[in-house]
Amino acid sequence: MVHDFLFSVASDTSGVSDACVLRVGLIGTGVVGTGTSLVLARNAALIAQRAGRPIKLVMAAARNLSKAAQVVGPDVVVVKDPWILVRHPEVDVVVEVMGGVGLAKDLVLEAIAQGKHVVTANKALLAEYGSEIFAAADARGVIVAYEAAVAVSIPIVKALREGLAANRIQEVVGIVNGTSNFILTKMEEEGMGFVAALRLATELGYAEADPSLDTKGIDAAHKTALLAAIAFGADVHFDQVHAQGIHALDPWDMVCARALGYRIKLLGVARQGDDAIEVRVHPALVPEKHWLAQVQGSMNGIWVNTDAAGPTFYFGAGAGSQTTASAVVADLIDVARQRAINLSSRVPHRSVSSGSIRSWPIMPIGQVASRHYLRFAMGGRLDLLSCLPRWLQKSGIKVQQSVFVQHPQDATQDSWVVLTPSLAGDVLVDKLTVLKRKVKDLEPAAVWRVEDLNLS
Ligand code: HSE
Repeated sequence: MVHDFLFSVASDTSGVSDACVLRVGLIGTGVVGTGTSLVLARNAALIAQRAGRPIKLVMAAARNLSKAAQVVGPDVVVVKDPWILVRHPEVDVVVEVMGGVGLAKDLVLEAIAQGKHVVTANKALLAEYGSEIFAAADARGVIVAYEAAVAVSIPIVKALREGLAANRIQEVVGIVNGTSNFILTKMEEEGMGFVAALRLATELGYAEADPSLDTKGIDAAHKTALLAAIAFGADVHFDQVHAQGIHALDPWDMVCARALGYRIKLLGVARQGDDAIEVRVHPALVPEKHWLAQVQGSMNGIWVNTDAAGPTFYFGAGAGSQTTASAVVADLIDVARQRAINLSSRVPHRSVSSGSIRSWPIMPIGQVASRHYLRFAMGGRLDLLSCLPRWLQKSGIKVQQSVFVQHPQDATQDSWVVLTPSLAGDVLVDKLTVLKRKVKDLEPAAVWRVEDLNLS
């Protein structure tokens, strides 16, 4: 049963028409749902002025009714069954912040079929099923807004689709997972262990319900796939996106990278090539002077290189409750502003109209060329140091820069670290196989890519 107050209006708004309240149904009252409810209530008057009409939360769907009622307050109808919400005639916009790709997908498609606009923070859903969802939305003439899905507080979707619309976007390189960056920072700055840092990130509401999505690079890959889709007007097949997380990163490599003048960050890279695009996520060395190297804690940073504007950089909170709500509510304001505009005049979901979307092949990770960082652990055998350069040379591995780094506590961890010139990953693997064959069992303790970013 939905009550009469569904027809009521925000009382603290002025200069806006009561007759055209945008009525919002919220699916999920966890970290992001809570922030959304708070921001909508706290800034109701300001939001109404900006949207030209009040935006009112009228219904929420959540598993735990009493907890949800506490989150959204007494004026909002709370239901357990999200199907009631997506089909309810007095809900104009569905905000999906429940996450997941099973039920969430069915609910979003049903909301679209019912002619409702959708605002979602669900990067997994859009990275994996975006083509289907955007096509359904276009066919039904509704908006699917997703600013909160990528780098939460940073308006990067708007920047790429609107602010940089005049440009050919050459590359988008970002730190787009707040949890991973938080863990790396805690490990690097405070010597905290991986498990303790992840526990803290979870307590602070940064991590996904399944935190392996954060630590294995999958969440960042979802976001990078979306960035590539917008930047290049592309249909990005998520199953071809390379994702490697921070779980395999030894903190000692962060120290060794610093000795060479680099920091290690989990990067999402989307780059336009001649015949293919690169879309990949992995830890990489970033020159310590680069803006991306300065992004610490749960913050995100995104570097966009373009032909006309040149490089631009975006920085802001990468996870959290109200930080994500900021984007959800901005999308609601956009929906309020855009819903009367006909489909062909709206901002396209992926920056170009659906008829112009291209299906770019994604370059296999082994073919992507970059400089590489190799770390050889001495294992207490410092005598090996004099032989290593010769062995590498015999295996065809060129050394561009190298340094010997002494471990403060454990001499067996003393390492010789090397930067190679740019070469494809598969080529390096072949050369390392030769090295292993020539010098019994010699292989690097760690291999990471260097991401060379033009600072000019
Ligand atoms: N778990 C995500 C992150 C939340 O840490 O970036 C924001 O998308």
